[in-house]
Formats: sequence, structure tokens, C-alpha cells
Amino acid sequence: MGIIKISPSLLSADWMDLGKELERLHEWGADMVHCDVIDGLFAPNITFGMPMISALKRKSKLPLDVHLMIVEPERYIDKFISAGSDTIAFHPEASKKPHEVLEKIRSKGIKAGIALNPDVPVRVAEEFLGEIDYILLMGVFPGFGGQKFIPEVMDKIDESKQLIASRDIYVELDGGVTTENIVEMKKRGLDAAVAGNAVFAASDPAAAIVALKA
Ligand code: DX5
Ligand code: ZN
Repeated sequence: MGIIKISPSLLSADWMDLGKELERLHEWGADMVHCDVIDGLFAPNITFGMPMISALKRKSKLPLDVHLMIVEPERYIDKFISAGSDTIAFHPEASKKPHEVLEKIRSKGIKAGIALNPDVPVRVAEEFLGEIDYILLMGVFPGFGGQKFIPEVMDKIDESKQLIASRDIYVELDGGVTTENIVEMKKRGLDAAVAGNAVFAASDPAAAIVALKA
């Protein structure tokens, strides 16, 4: 396994100055930019949609790691694809046509992931193994940045790795990641981590990214 990839979540960034934040993330050594799309139905918050992804795409030197927390992602998947997403994960229980959504994402050369809430077992990923590039394990219930990691999710890293076996699928963890708990996550073979508060609330965000990757 190589060095873990860090995907800072824009949910905790300064939205008044997103262009600058994108430049900073690149300078600070982030690997991707995590974009949390929430519709107020699947999760209790409303963030942004496709126009924001297109705007970010114009400026970002880093890949856009898009996390759809919306009901029936099949309604908007074409638009999120054409907006310039580089990876797209959605929650399969929110979709009536999860296989179709995955197929559309991958047909455009974009990486496809399924996101598993803390109470959704890893075995849900089994039927999608031939169609995904990553599993996004939620360390918190979706909606807000800055929540505390649910420790029971730690074992889901091992379970995912076992399920994936030798397939070319990576595991990313989203929610409650800190410079402390990421040590154990890396031991268990985690490939990528989303970090909102751990980066943007740090007194030295560049140092925080270095520490998360160390
Ligand atoms: C939760 C989002 C996460 C969140 C991560 O709804 O999917 O991406 O913003 O933020 P932290 O790292 O602060 O938990
Ligand atoms: Zn997310």
C-alpha cells in the first residue's frame, strides 16, 4: 500500500473565498477535493449542486471527489458527470437504479463509488464489486462536518478489504477523521481519507495534511 490520499472536505472551507481555498489545498499537498452534495432529504443539510461542481472544476488543479447525499441520484447523475466530477460516490439505498448509475459514471471514465452509512453493513457492497472503483465508508451519519468518529466503523475497513480481496477497489473513509485516529485506519490498510475539520480547523492546515499522510 502506498501513502494514504487525503481529500479535504469543502464543507469546512471558507465559502466566501473558495477559489483561494482551492489554491491553498493544492499548495498544502491535498490529493483530491471532497465535495459534499446534500439535498436536505437524504441527510439533514442543504449544500450545493452541479453549478458549484462546474465552477470548482474551472479552478481546481486537484481532482473533484464528489459525494452525493441525495435521494434518487439517477435524476441528476448525467449533470454531475458533465459538471466535471472526477470521482462520484452515492448511497445505494437512496437509489432505485444503483447499477444504472454506476454504469453511467464509469462509461464516462469517472471513478464510481458506493457510500455506506455507519449502520449499513459492508456486505451491501458485495453485489456492486464488479462495478465500482471505491467504497466510501462513512465514519459519521452524513449531514455535517466536525462530528465525532463512530469507533465501530473501524472494523469496517478490515471487512471491506476482505470483501474486495484482490480486486482493484480502494477504500476511503469519510467523517470524523483526525490526526490521531487515522493512525489506526492506516494500519488497517485504508487507502484514502476525507478530512474536513482536521484540515480547515487546524492552526496549520499544511502541517495537518502532512501529519494525516505521515
Ligand atoms: C458528512 C460529510 C463529510 C464531512 C467530513 O456529511 O460527508 O464529508 O464533511 O467532515 P469532518 O472531517 O469534519 O468530519
Ligand atoms: Zn462526504
